[in-house]
Amino acid sequence: MFRWLTGGESHGPGLTVIVDGLPAGVPLEAERVARELARRQEGYGRGGRMRIERDRARFLGGVRRGRSTGAPVVLWIENRDWANWQAVMDPEPRETGGEPPGGAPASGAGEASALTAAERRALPVERPRPGHADLAGSLKYGHRDMRDVLERASARETAARTAAGAVARALLAELGVEVGSFVERIGPAAWRREPAYPAEEEPWRAWAAAAARSPVHCPDAAAEAAMMEAVDQALRAGDTVGGRFVAFALGVPPGLGSYAQWDRRLDGRLAQAIASIPGVKAVAFGAGEEMAELPGSRAHDPILPDPGGPRPGRFVRPSDRAGGLEGGVTNGEPLVVSAVMKPLATLRRGLPSVHLPSGQPAEAAYERSDVCVVPAAGVVAEAMLALVLAEALLEKLGGDSLEELRHRVEERRRAWEAGWPWA
Ligand SMILES: Cc1cc2nc3c(=O)[nH]c(=O)nc-3n(C[C@H](O)[C@H](O)[C@H](O)COP(=O)(O)O)c2cc1C
Repeated sequence: MFRWLTGGESHGPGLTVIVDGLPAGVPLEAERVARELARRQEGYGRGGRMRIERDRARFLGGVRRGRSTGAPVVLWIENRDWANWQAVMDPEPRETGGEPPGGAPASGAGEASALTAAERRALPVERPRPGHADLAGSLKYGHRDMRDVLERASARETAARTAAGAVARALLAELGVEVGSFVERIGPAAWRREPAYPAEEEPWRAWAAAAARSPVHCPDAAAEAAMMEAVDQALRAGDTVGGRFVAFALGVPPGLGSYAQWDRRLDGRLAQAIASIPGVKAVAFGAGEEMAELPGSRAHDPILPDPGGPRPGRFVRPSDRAGGLEGGVTNGEPLVVSAVMKPLATLRRGLPSVHLPSGQPAEAAYERSDVCVVPAAGVVAEAMLALVLAEALLEKLGGDSLEELRHRVEERRRAWEAGWPWA
């Protein structure tokens, strides 16, 4: 069974990741994980934290001389910011945090600005930010200082997911499966790709390669400029901006997931994985919401005979509006999932909130924050896609070693290509 867990807080000592069930023999290097972590940190519109954190991951178990051993892979990502937060976040009982001299300010930024940075950090968080877990988390766990909520609810945790995803990607790469992403909307600025739903792999690969050179991860130069302007405008207005990204996988073998039981459908499992990315508010496959408008005659991907002449069990698909999934099962076409990322909920000028200890109106608390994270969310989605696919692949084809798994994948591919189960 392939499974993984993360632990750690945003301003604690660091983040831990355990990936269990990875076959032995998968090439793994810290450099490879660092590359993915760096991609998550890029993107036009990121804030000060990204300059503090240059993330690196260390393997603490399960890897020896650049290869997985079959034991749990343990990763550690240090929080460089920890040095500034040690007093506030110390796991040992001690007299820290609490109110600064004169009591906690009710209305926020104005009064707090007279304090030093260290004093501000020590303030309890008592003015929940609308759109964050602050309020719901404190109602659930009974935390009066909402720092105990936001430290774990923070998207800093997605660094740990990205590291786990890098491990999954290393496995997938050995099996000929590649994962990528790009951005197609930031606020009002959108790019409409052409062709929209290619069944060929090349357009997807080219879009991801062009996105890798773009500060907003958009493959199109004109749309890129408009997207950067949308970020600049939000920054000038003290506002934030959301958007939409697309994540895809190529070379995915058919037959992953199952229609036989609701919780085995791969579309359902992927939807949960992508929707679990903090801030994601809508998830779609292939043509997604366009399906609401299209007539049935244009919404589906025909199944056509082999262009080289009809042969048992051989066919082609001219388009991929289904996004590589039919009946919750992969069909061998590019797997395509898109998602909407909401505009970030931390605004320089806090949204209307309440100072909960007094019940008085107040501006929401401000924590250093980004203006736009749509490109980064796409990178996190790649990690989630890789993790779900690694799990589904191992479920179907198993294998304690990479050699064993690779043999099974190749044997299956040869059978499908030959027209199995008809030829
Ligand atoms: C990579 C990434 C970075 C994020 N950075 C921030 C940030 O700097 N400030 C912020 O307010 N929200 C940020 N978010 C979004 C919040 O984590 C998210 O809005 C919050 O968890 C509540 O959303 P939810 O209701 O979908 O969980 C980020 C999300 C991601 C995926």
